[in-house]
Amino acid sequence: MTAQQVSENPLLKMEGISKSYSGVPALSRVRLEIRRGEVHALMGENGAGKSTLMKILSGIVQRDQGDISIDGKRVEIRSPKEALDLGISMIHQELNPVRAMTVAENIFLGKEPCYRYTGVVNRRKQRELTLDLFREMDVSMDPDKIMSALSVAEMQLVEIVKAVSYQSRVIIMDEPTSAITGREVAKLFEIIRRLKSRGIAIIYISHKMDEIFRISDTITVLRDGQYIETRPAGELDHDTLVKLMVGRKISEMFPKRIAAPGAEVIFEVAGLTKTGLFQDISFKVRKGEVFGIAGLMGAGRTEVMETVFGLRKADAGVVRIHGREVKIKSPADAIRHRVALITEDRQLKGLNLTASVRDNITLVNLKTFSLFGQVLQFKKENEAADAEIAKLRVKTRHRGQIVRTLSGGNQQKVVLAKWLLAEPEILVLDEPTRGIDIGAKAEIYKIIADLTAQGRTVIMISSELEEILGMCDRVIVLYHGRITAEFERAAFNQENIIKAAMGNWSAN
Ligand SMILES: Nc1ncnc2c1ncn2[C@@H]1O[C@H](COP(=O)(O)OP(=O)(O)OP(=O)(O)O)[C@@H](O)[C@H]1O
Ligand SMILES: [Mg+2]
Repeated sequence: MTAQQVSENPLLKMEGISKSYSGVPALSRVRLEIRRGEVHALMGENGAGKSTLMKILSGIVQRDQGDISIDGKRVEIRSPKEALDLGISMIHQELNPVRAMTVAENIFLGKEPCYRYTGVVNRRKQRELTLDLFREMDVSMDPDKIMSALSVAEMQLVEIVKAVSYQSRVIIMDEPTSAITGREVAKLFEIIRRLKSRGIAIIYISHKMDEIFRISDTITVLRDGQYIETRPAGELDHDTLVKLMVGRKISEMFPKRIAAPGAEVIFEVAGLTKTGLFQDISFKVRKGEVFGIAGLMGAGRTEVMETVFGLRKADAGVVRIHGREVKIKSPADAIRHRVALITEDRQLKGLNLTASVRDNITLVNLKTFSLFGQVLQFKKENEAADAEIAKLRVKTRHRGQIVRTLSGGNQQKVVLAKWLLAEPEILVLDEPTRGIDIGAKAEIYKIIADLTAQGRTVIMISSELEEILGMCDRVIVLYHGRITAEFERAAFNQENIIKAAMGNWSAN
C-alpha cells in the first residue's frame, strides 16, 4: 500500500452489521464509513437503529454479524474498555457521571496520576492535568467542583474532555443537545470544530434538522434497521433528507386547525409566585386553545407548571379551572380535575421503565378497566393499549415489550399514549417532541389539532420556536421567571418571541 492509499483509508469501517433482539432484527447488514476529522451525522426515525449501531461500536452491545475495522485492520470490540483502548468513546444520552466525585476525579477515574512509591493519588497533579485539558479545549470550569452541582451542559463538557483525555479518535454523541440551551449548543459546536481540526471524527445523532445542516460534513441515513444512503451534507436539502429517513414525503408538518378557540376561559393561573424561581405568573387559557409557553431552557417554564401541579409549593397565587379555585396536590388530584401533565423528563417522572408498554399506557387508567373496582378487564385493557399503540405508531414488537428496550423516541410516545387514554380536558405538554423524529412530530401535531377540534385544551411548553409558531393560538414568553410578552397568533413572529425570550422585548 502506498502512503496515499493509507491516508485514503477510512478511519473506521463497519460492514454488514446485524443485530437481533429475541429474533427481531434491530439492524440488518448496516454499513458505516467514518473519515478522520469529519462530523458524520447518523439520521433516521425513532427505532431506526442508530443507538444500537453506536452501542455496538462502543462495546456496550455485541453484534450478531459483521466486521469492524480501524485504519484498515479488523478489530474486535467486546467491551467499552476495548472500545476506549481503540480510541472510541461515547457521550451517552443519559449522562451518569459519578455524582459525588469532583470534576478532576471523574475525568481521571481509573487512570489517576499516583505518587511513585506509595501509589497514592497525586491530587495536585490530577488537578493540573485537568486544567491543562481545559486550556487545550478552551473550557473554563473549576476542577474541584462536585459533579452533582454541574448543569447538563457542563457534565457533557466534562465527558467530552474525558474522551479527549483518552486520546479518542472517534467520539460518538447521541442526541447531545436534547437538554441544553442555545448558547450551550453554540459552545458545543465550537468544541466539535476544535476536535475536528485535531483530526478527531465525531458521530453525531440528533433529530434537529437545523443542527444537522449546521454541523455535519457527511450524513448516513438508516431506516427500519437498514442502511439507506451516505451523502455529503452539502448535497442534501431538508426535504430530500426527510424523504430518505421516512421513505415518504411529509406534506404538511403543521396541520390546519379547523376549530377556533371559544371565549370561555377554562384554565387560569393568577399571581403565581415561587421566590427564586418565578414571580407573578398570570395567564388565562381558553377552551379549545393551543396555548404556548415559550422561553429559553432555564427560564422557569417547567417550574411554573410543576407548581401548578403541586409538585412544588407556591408562595402565592391561585389556579382556577372552569372559574373555580382548585388545589392540585398530586397526580391523582389532577386526574380528578381532568388535567394531565406530560413532563419533559420521561425517564424520571413519566414512565415505569421496567414495566411493559401496555402496563405503562393503562396504569393511570386502571379504574376504567376494573369491574366493581376489582377484576381487571384484561381484554378491554389490551384493546385500549393496542389502539393507542396504533394511533401513535409506537414502534414496539407487541404490547408486552418492556419500555426500557424501546428506542428513546418511542418511549416518549408511550408517555403520550398513556395520558391520551385518560381523556383529559386539559393537556399540558412539556417539550412534547423532544427526541422525537420528524414523522412522529407531524403525527403528534395532528393529534394536538384533533384534540382541540374536540374541544380539549392544550398547553404546550416548548423551546422549539417552529412548533410554537406552527401550533399555538396564543403564546406567553418567560424570561428569568417572569412573563416578558404575550402574543396572539396574528401578532407573533420569530423575532418577537426570540427578543422576549432574551428579555429584550417591549411592546412599544
Ligand atoms: N435491549 C433491547 N431489547 C429489545 N429490543 C431492543 C433493545 N434495544 C433496542 N431494541 C430495539 O431495537 C430497535 C432500534 O432501537 P434504537 O434504540 O437503536 O433506535 P434509535 O434509532 O436510536 O431511535 P431513537 O431516535 O428513538 O433514539 C428498536 O425497535 C428497539 O425497540
Ligand atoms: Mg436512540
